[in-house]
Amino acid sequence: MPDLVRYEVKDGVAVVTIDNPPVNALSPNVWTEIDQAVQRAVADPAAEATVLIGAGTTFIAGADIKVFDLLKTPQDSIARSAGTHALLRRMEDSTKPLVAAIHGNALGGGLEVAQACHFRVATRDAKVGQPEVLLGIIPGAGGTQRLPRLAGAQMALEMCTDGKPVAAPKALAAGIIDRIVDGDLLSGAIAFAREKARAREIRKVRDIPHAADAVKAGLAACEATRAALKKTAKGMQAPFAAVSAIEAGLKLGFDEGSVRERELFAECVVSTESKALRHLFFAEREVAKVPDVPKDTPAREIKRAAVVGAGTMGGGIAMTYANAGIPVLLKDVDDAALQRGLATIRRNYDVTMSKGKMTAEQVEKTMALITPTTSYDGFDQVDIVVEAVFENMDLKKSTFAELGKVTRPDCILASNSSTLDIDEFAKASGRPAQVVGHHFFSPANVMKLLEIVRGRETSKDVIATSLKLAKKLGKVGVVVGNCFGFVANRMLAYYMREAYLLLEEGASVEQIDRVLTEFGLPVGPFGMQDIAGIDVGARIRQYLASIGKSRAEGPQSAVPDRLFEMGRYGQKTGAGWYKYDAPGSRNRTPDPLIEQLAEDEARKRGIARRPVADDEIIARITTALANEGARVIEDGYATRAGDIDVIYVYGFGFPRHRGGPMFYADTVGLDRVLARVTDYRRRFGDYWAAAPLLERLAAEGRGFYSEAAAPA
Ligand code: CAA
Repeated sequence: MPDLVRYEVKDGVAVVTIDNPPVNALSPNVWTEIDQAVQRAVADPAAEATVLIGAGTTFIAGADIKVFDLLKTPQDSIARSAGTHALLRRMEDSTKPLVAAIHGNALGGGLEVAQACHFRVATRDAKVGQPEVLLGIIPGAGGTQRLPRLAGAQMALEMCTDGKPVAAPKALAAGIIDRIVDGDLLSGAIAFAREKARAREIRKVRDIPHAADAVKAGLAACEATRAALKKTAKGMQAPFAAVSAIEAGLKLGFDEGSVRERELFAECVVSTESKALRHLFFAEREVAKVPDVPKDTPAREIKRAAVVGAGTMGGGIAMTYANAGIPVLLKDVDDAALQRGLATIRRNYDVTMSKGKMTAEQVEKTMALITPTTSYDGFDQVDIVVEAVFENMDLKKSTFAELGKVTRPDCILASNSSTLDIDEFAKASGRPAQVVGHHFFSPANVMKLLEIVRGRETSKDVIATSLKLAKKLGKVGVVVGNCFGFVANRMLAYYMREAYLLLEEGASVEQIDRVLTEFGLPVGPFGMQDIAGIDVGARIRQYLASIGKSRAEGPQSAVPDRLFEMGRYGQKTGAGWYKYDAPGSRNRTPDPLIEQLAEDEARKRGIARRPVADDEIIARITTALANEGARVIEDGYATRAGDIDVIYVYGFGFPRHRGGPMFYADTVGLDRVLARVTDYRRRFGDYWAAAPLLERLAAEGRGFYSEAAAPA
């Protein structure tokens, strides 16, 4: 086994190099070896100071997240943290100046190790952060105690509750680091360490006092942060725990504050919230691994792109490419359509600019990457075309037939269809191996999910290229199979079916939306439809009816079709499931008409309306998602349960702290989920048949994430 931590002496300074690829995570052995190396330096007469540095592309990206799974009880955690705290104290007590040399990232435990050093230097592009809250925990190695002493309580509160990394120049201004090194980091760090050795300067962060007025201001900042979190982090534990730990340090001092940090960390690390967020951390990285597409499958560089269709989706997709610095042709049939599309793009950038997220210059530079066109001129130069024309099979087929002729044979032909069979387009194009679905979510320039739809003949390098491209575009790409609605919309049909049926049974639009937003979704099903457009779903239903299909098993409520017939398409027409102040307004009020429509439908279908409890709404909707998700896995349209969770978190804002619909089902218990399905089948009908995978797992006492939970 190679050493995880190397020791050498250079120019009279001990250099301790952490070498645990890929991100120098602090596995238990790394902790031990850092400790040993720092103590060795203290005893080494050849060294007057010590530099701690990371090998490879980064300093330390934090504790090894997998190790948290071993902490089964708060007591396990407290015992382990006490050891870590003592180790860091030993480092801090080093009698020779100890300097952290940071490049890449110093995150979580990585920044805490750096804070236990006497000084910190960093490259200009380095980042430091306490992202633990994104994993449902708090800094557990003294970060809530040392960071406020270095950077002040306000900055520490921000970093520990939003988890966002801070760039080196800002960290320098805040006092988190002491110097930026512009040349070679190690040489700069050694020179800095020698300066400190000559000056006999050692600074223990734990001894930096909090001035009385700083304590007062800090405690007020804790209160203010807590109040703000009540709105932004409703239902979550970790952000509040981070505030409490910082507050304890301010009130009680370093030692007692550290004890409180350990206790709060321990409560968080065993919480469902943390398990869910850790699950998503790995699930998000796992999606890029497609079993039959090996890691070394060649992925092409996408240097130029084209988008066909300048509507809402096409425009958003063109923006996505331009934002990533990729020049993109944007084609539509005539100038009027193009101008409309460009005006929307301009409006979107203006909003971004007004929020201070882009400068006027950046906007102009980005817009200059989008070239409008009404012809196929230049399509022979692009590496990918994304088709985003109207959702109509004949139109899409003819578009693919044209694209097959006007592009290079190796050009990837992607469709943004949200429902149609991409194998049909593949056939029409004449080169099916290059055809793939790239299903963006609206608004395409904002939503992070990209469903990469694999057709019957899509080549492996097209899949590998799509995954690499998704990352470049700032998206999370998930490979899915080519079934109706793919994964996201196929499951959404079941979610919507239940929402409509609950409405007919007696729940109200406002109740259902409220319950789901309280559960953690950014918007409930009806609010979502009013944004997306009731006409979109209605037209898909019409198309399906024309080919004798339906989106989901079971009864389909007629209420949304009635709204469509009335021209109530949602926000854009000023009325949908809600009434709006004006077309395009977001200011909504409940509309008694919906209750009337629901009553009519219930009467026609012989349903006796009744009060519906909030719990039943959550249970019905999440059970429908889990049951259909199980079918999706069993049918092979998703590689694993984690892919579905990632799709739902990024595509529909399923609350991260619940881990996604499949992880959530595991937390409910699959035996209970199955019992609900059985109960619904008895009450509502056979369309509530249990997915065989759900039945099997429940019978075996397992969950979607138990070992070997894949279909037999
Ligand atoms: N523990 C274990 N594995 C980790 C890890 C960690 N802290 N950080 C990254 N990895 C793994 C990833 O799972 C991935 O593995 P695979 O290649 O097998 O999929 C590999 O390292 C590379 O990671 P990324 O794909 O994410 O690489 P990137 O270059 O896109 O991003 C990064 C690098 C910014 C460091 C990112 O990995 C990241 O944000 N890591 C987590 C940072 C974090 O949350 N740290 C806090 C940990 S908790 C803590 O430290 C508590 C404490 O107080 C002691």
